[in-house]
Amino acid sequence: MNSQMTIAKFTKMVDGDKEDYEFLEALETDYASKVGERLFKALSELDSSLSGYQVTRLEHSVQSATRAYRDGADVDWIVSALLHDIGDMYAPYNHDQYAAVILAPYVREQCRWVIEKHGIFQRKYYAEHTNADPDSRERFLGEPFYDDAVYFCEMWDQTSFDPEYDSLPLEFFKPMVMEVFTRKVNQAEVQLPGVRVALADSSIAAQRFNR
Ligand SMILES: [Fe+2]
Ligand SMILES: [Fe+2]
Repeated sequence: MNSQMTIAKFTKMVDGDKEDYEFLEALETDYASKVGERLFKALSELDSSLSGYQVTRLEHSVQSATRAYRDGADVDWIVSALLHDIGDMYAPYNHDQYAAVILAPYVREQCRWVIEKHGIFQRKYYAEHTNADPDSRERFLGEPFYDDAVYFCEMWDQTSFDPEYDSLPLEFFKPMVMEVFTRKVNQAEVQLPGVRVALADSSIAAQRFNR
């Protein structure tokens, strides 16, 4: 490759050559490696999203992640909890799937599945007031991560609208976000198909008690 190259030569993709695409691939790899930084910034923008609740979407997200942390959950769970509503701004009608797509290459399949379905599981807590079906989650009965989604919604999501809760600061979670989003993507040893890891671990939770 021409080391002086600063921009691709083509104006239509079909005209690009090996040099162009090697040059672009190197840039894309570098750009992708910084996705954790961009997601962290996007999280802070949740501070100005959806209003009407007693807490902002950012506080809701950090509160969910704090509850996960204090439950003794592992980093996949904590980061998934932190990002679970990141789709609210750009995908208000499928925000759960939006977050799951972001997480999928970097976390356990279990976490991806729960985040992808959490919008449906969450209906349990409010759908009777909105002419929707609170039990629509039951279409997933028998799925391997069903109980995990129940726990996620019950203990971390639907509870996290409390302005009095002592959430950890967003910055506390930055190293965890960076750890997850600098992993090599789509690795079987990370995605662990079919594997269930408990959301709560009392011995780890006890070690984190004072945070
Ligand atoms: Fe949500
Ligand atoms: Fe949520």
